[in-house]
Amino acid sequence: MQIGHDVRFQPLRTSVAAAAVAATLTLPLAGPTTAAPGSPGEPRYSAGAASVGDLYFPDQGNGGFDVQHYDIKFTYDPATKRLNATTTISAVATQDLDQFNLDFRGPAITKLAVNGKPMDYQQGDEEVVVTPRPKLKTGQTFTTVVAYAGVPPVITDPDGSIEGWVPTDDGAFVAGEPQGSAAWFPGNNHPTDKATFTLTATVPEGKTAVGNGQLISQQTADGWTTFTWDSTEPMATYLATVTIGDFAVTRSTTPSGIPVYVAVDLRLVDRSAAAVARIPDIVDYFSSVFGPYPFASTGAIIDRAPNVGYALETQTKPIFSNAPSIGTMAHELAHQWYGDSVSLERWSDIWLNEGFATYASWLYTEHTGGATAQQTFNSNSNYGRAASSSFWQISMIDPGPVDMFSNVPYNRGAMTLHALRGKIGDDAFFKLIKEWATMHRYGNANTADFVQLAEKVSGMDLTHFFDVWVYQAGKPTSW
Ligand code: TRP
Ligand code: ZN
Repeated sequence: MQIGHDVRFQPLRTSVAAAAVAATLTLPLAGPTTAAPGSPGEPRYSAGAASVGDLYFPDQGNGGFDVQHYDIKFTYDPATKRLNATTTISAVATQDLDQFNLDFRGPAITKLAVNGKPMDYQQGDEEVVVTPRPKLKTGQTFTTVVAYAGVPPVITDPDGSIEGWVPTDDGAFVAGEPQGSAAWFPGNNHPTDKATFTLTATVPEGKTAVGNGQLISQQTADGWTTFTWDSTEPMATYLATVTIGDFAVTRSTTPSGIPVYVAVDLRLVDRSAAAVARIPDIVDYFSSVFGPYPFASTGAIIDRAPNVGYALETQTKPIFSNAPSIGTMAHELAHQWYGDSVSLERWSDIWLNEGFATYASWLYTEHTGGATAQQTFNSNSNYGRAASSSFWQISMIDPGPVDMFSNVPYNRGAMTLHALRGKIGDDAFFKLIKEWATMHRYGNANTADFVQLAEKVSGMDLTHFFDVWVYQAGKPTSW
């Protein structure tokens, strides 16, 4: 814990406070709405909530403001693993604020300013508490600048996997699902608060720093190269990356004209070639099935991070911790529509991300002459699993933080979509998934929203269908 100037040592109990908030409130949360005395129209200042109330990660997210833009600038030296960073957060106050929290698990803060003035703050293990003066009024846009320096942490998740800022032998693998973005920048770390990003990374000459969005400049001076990346569409914090290493970079465009930027660890170029070659075809095929690709560019980051072992749908450029298969490439690119553009409202709905991306890869396999989606549905790793398997017992509507990345949201999620397609017919199903992508583009949605749209598009009562496939545990036998 570090303390800002003029603030006496006072340990923070953020997790207790956040758990109390989480236990009493449901999403989406506004800030406290105490009816304070005072004449109408007078500001009623209070502290922004220390959590958005997502039960899976009760410390994550904050109330009282809405982030518009993150401008993150840093220098990283792989030799020392030190990050020297300044993050500027542009936000709008959604209540009259005399205090607000930022989620942050990174190194020691050296300076924090609001609207250009140094401010009091307290840095705890997971939260920074800021007391802005003058206080902030509802609707006011304000800028928070946070400077910090040190070694950013690797974060371990409830399921034992690692994320955040993971040093590699040639740089760093940077991924933030579900919690890890707070390892390297302060902010509002929940998918309900999306923002645009500018990422500027300075790394030793010869290294490449690959971020989300479009590369707008790359300049070398005095042995250091600075890369500036611009994300022009809103992005959830967990999808942000600036991954650093010795990369082979190739640039191209898809047949329909979307710019492609691919960075591959020099040791993985041959083993990645087949999946990389498919990127343009995958993006254009999915555009034809799901509707227009939602972002201004696409690509991939293929890194060598053997201790990570998973891939992530980092916005515009999914990241892989090893050479990917074509199926994994298709899965991560499908998330650009489902997960990245249409995002979760709460983590318990993770099947909406993983089921859609998994089903999309089944469709791509069929499209390219492999197993049909029906054959994949029937297989022993899917509907063929015995009813007694634990696979059917875990709740899909609420798998919990330990099982959120188990095969349940992935495979049962994909089976749910395939079964729905059988139930409502191809015309309604493909209309539905396109409409889902259009209606919630750059937004957030939940399972009830999906059920409602499915009923509207199909004109059918799907209560029983979603009960047996989504809301209840057990292997569905009739739907
Ligand atoms: N969402 C990723 C995918 O399906 C997987 C993932 C992200 C993950 N973070 C994780 C898996 C943590 C296990 C643990 O592509
Ligand atoms: Zn996925």
